[in-house]
Amino acid sequence: MTHHLLEICYLIGSVTFIIGMKMMGNAKTARRGNLIGAAGMIIAIIGTIFLHENRVENIDGVPTEVPVSATVYGLIFGAIGLGTVIGWMTAKKVQMTKMPELVSMFNGMGGACAALIGLMEYEQNRNQTGALIAIIAGMVIGSVSFSGSIIAYLKLNGTMNKPIRLPAYNIINTIVMIGVIGFAGWMVYASPAGHVMLYALFAVALVYGILFTVPIGGADMPVVISLLNSFTGLAAAFGGFLYDNYVMLTGGILVGSAGTLLTLEMCKAMNRPLSNVIFGAFGGGGAAAGTGPDVKGSIKDVGVSDLAVMMNYSKKVVIVPGYGLAVAQAQHVIHELEMLLEERGVEVKYAIHPVAGRMPGHMNVLLAESNVAYEKLVEMDDINPEFDQTDVVLVVGANDVVNPAAKSDPASPIYGMPILEVDRAKHIVVNKRSMSAGYAGIDNLLFYDQKCSMFFGDAKKALTELVAELKTMD
Ligand code: TAP
Repeated sequence: MTHHLLEICYLIGSVTFIIGMKMMGNAKTARRGNLIGAAGMIIAIIGTIFLHENRVENIDGVPTEVPVSATVYGLIFGAIGLGTVIGWMTAKKVQMTKMPELVSMFNGMGGACAALIGLMEYEQNRNQTGALIAIIAGMVIGSVSFSGSIIAYLKLNGTMNKPIRLPAYNIINTIVMIGVIGFAGWMVYASPAGHVMLYALFAVALVYGILFTVPIGGADMPVVISLLNSFTGLAAAFGGFLYDNYVMLTGGILVGSAGTLLTLEMCKAMNRPLSNVIFGAFGGGGAAAGTGPDVKGSIKDVGVSDLAVMMNYSKKVVIVPGYGLAVAQAQHVIHELEMLLEERGVEVKYAIHPVAGRMPGHMNVLLAESNVAYEKLVEMDDINPEFDQTDVVLVVGANDVVNPAAKSDPASPIYGMPILEVDRAKHIVVNKRSMSAGYAGIDNLLFYDQKCSMFFGDAKKALTELVAELKTMD
């Protein structure tokens, strides 16, 4: 009976993961989807703790049920309580721009859990080949994901702010990777080996995770984190095989496949093959690696009162948010600007580039925080044809995603990346603090366009002034 109830809990858990994930694909339903997935996880955990039959074989080989002791329950609930408090408090106070760091740390914990399962279950299962494959694979992948995620975390929080590239690091990494796979294979087929070899494999896998992540540019970390996320999912799925646990298997496969798809989507949106991200081309946390075009020409800037007049008398304004908007935390003031213009009969939309900012859906999440209506956020392919009828495009803290070099300069490192074609609008206004480059480290020809004016300043401060100026106008 309890066995059937547990199966039902796992079924509910699996179904809620799938429904939750589907709902996360849309900004309107994402929050509820997250809660539904979390509810499914709680059901699966509670079910496992109270309904799982703890059977061991007695001396005659007969499976006998062993009751779980109060100490074990105490340890389980103590660990859950501690994890809940730490996770809740960290997630509650994290800033939106620090989200990739948080995801990286949580992902690392998932990898560590998978690795610990391997270390713990080895002794009992080392004579069964099927179980041993799941244990070794889960432990190796989990360890790589753990140490890789910790390095990613340190890079994103600035502790390790420079990619470290040993000479011939690609060759070294490939050799270590082949070594780890060979060692893991040997552990399965040529043993059972002792515990020393198991810990040696664990250590080598940790080292590989570090070597894999260390050379990658800090700003490429969101792509790598998504890849490491898929590793953790795979490691958890092996745990599901081992324990014959369907909810763990489903959850692991979902995380693994979603992480892989997200990684590939991000690479596609940046027009960079995954190998280019992993083996490094640009993206050293803003350090210029590509040179970009040799730009000649002059730029012009616009003052706050002229800009307020220009926007006030427009029919249609499109706002292009970018990484700088997130850094400045200007999402609330931009929403205020939008409402002010709409009150004056100006149509306002936001143009969302798939890789604007530094994490998937960064702009959507940021603007949702300030209650911008979802229907005002228009995806790149839909907004591009609308720029011809746009009076003013206001680019706020975006750079690479509007750089025409992506279309016109085959030598540019971003050549081929689809961009927001803002140069089709009647007027372009770019707000940023200086002429500094964006993530790709290259100059931007757009700023020298005859139709373009620079509105220099920190996004929050400059937009606050613009809003104040607009309010003084009838
Ligand atoms: P970027 O090209 O990085 O440009 C951001 C601009 O914001 C900078 O040029 C900077 O210029 C300006 N800025 C910084 N702080 C500011 C502030 N306080 N106020 C006003 N402006 C400020 O950003 P983007 O156009 O959003 O493009 C994103 C880039 O990141 C792409 O190259 C993409 O491939 C890459 N990337 C994205 C992701 C994801 S998943 N979104 C993941 C990895 C990499 P100043 O210093 O002159 O102000």
